Amino acid sequence: MCSANPRNILPEPPAELKSVSKELTAIIRNKIARNGPVAFSEYMEMSLYEPGLGYYSAGLRKFAEGGDFVTAPQLGNVFARCLAKQIEQIADEIGQYEICEVGAGTGILAADLLQSLQQKHPPTRYRILERSAHLRQVQKETLQQAVPQWMDRISWLDEPPKDGWDGIFLANEVIDALTVDRFCIEDDGIKQLLVAADHSEFRWQKGPCPKRMQDKIHTLLAGLEQQPDAGFCSEINIDLPAWLHAVTAGMQKGIALFIDYGYTRHNYYLPERRDGTLICHYQQRAHDNPFIWPGLVDISSSVDFTALAEAADSCGLEVNGYTTQAMFLLANGLDAVLADFETLSERQRLKMNNQVRLLTLPGEMGERFQVMALGRGFNNDFCESLRGFSMSDLRHKL
Ligand SMILES: C[S@@+](CC[C@H](N)C(=O)[O-])C[C@H]1O[C@@H](n2cnc3c(N)ncnc32)[C@H](O)[C@@H]1O
Repeated sequence: MCSANPRNILPEPPAELKSVSKELTAIIRNKIARNGPVAFSEYMEMSLYEPGLGYYSAGLRKFAEGGDFVTAPQLGNVFARCLAKQIEQIADEIGQYEICEVGAGTGILAADLLQSLQQKHPPTRYRILERSAHLRQVQKETLQQAVPQWMDRISWLDEPPKDGWDGIFLANEVIDALTVDRFCIEDDGIKQLLVAADHSEFRWQKGPCPKRMQDKIHTLLAGLEQQPDAGFCSEINIDLPAWLHAVTAGMQKGIALFIDYGYTRHNYYLPERRDGTLICHYQQRAHDNPFIWPGLVDISSSVDFTALAEAADSCGLEVNGYTTQAMFLLANGLDAVLADFETLSERQRLKMNNQVRLLTLPGEMGERFQVMALGRGFNNDFCESLRGFSMSDLRHKL
């Protein structure tokens, strides 16, 4: 979350960061010089995860104040305290349970959750699946400082857990960071948007769309009420089902909760959203040009929640709930979290007010961010009673 910047005017990075970006740019350019234009997913992969140079791999400050964007857990502990209520309900049904969090950022959500869950029903294990070696280190430091008593239950995974486990899988703002491909609808068919390089900069170039991607786009277009016209460009994550399968395959009895910004497919591919949903963040400014300062800028895209629900189906997971972040937090006792409001100091009240406003207002994270629960191994009555979706369930819109 950060302010819009339609003219893509960004602060100048310091010299040492520019040189990191230039090094990464040279690697990408060499690849293009050798093999020709690359798929956007490949460019995004290198921009975000090139060892030592990519946005998530280099040791830059990304989240919260002084970083590029703010996520819900960074605002304070209200988000985690409400999420803990949902976890408690699932944990009571399972008994001994564990949590597996993917893409844990600074580790603050894990720390706040463990603090909330410790009184009543703590997990037997908290495992973190994190791609970035740098962020793993940050997470260790955060957790060591916040919950030293729980360190023996926390571990990090190099790959998704394969052994069978029961519990809760969490992904807050992770699917938006998965690589996507870009496409454009032309009069003579669907084209893939590739990344080419000129003398000084990267640029888009249209090319033939690979068959697998083309088939997936045709399928999604066939399900739309309104067909986009020629010139419409957007994104698609054709590997989402494979990723979802990999990260949840070991979950025998559990609920996977995905919280992210996105839309149902119908809204994602609305004709007026004709430039897609790609968004870049640098120093609290949002823009739409992924070619500015590769490696220094976060690149993400909105989540197609209908695609997530379809991927769930192909993985043997049931969609047990879908709602907005605001309704999810309200249904998980946001009012109870605010019950001690009167006892807070003036300064704390202001901070709390701001936090709740950002988390719940429709123009902030309240509606743009949505929550989907994917379950496996429960009886139907329990699945249909998840408290986070008791105030509003939007599954019929998927
Ligand atoms: C936008 S950040 C969100 C961080 C955190 N969940 C939060 O809400 O503050 C995305 C996180 O996902 C991680 N990530 C992205 N793709 C991943 C993958 N395939 N496996 C594991 N972690 C991944 C990134 O390294 C980063 O920690």
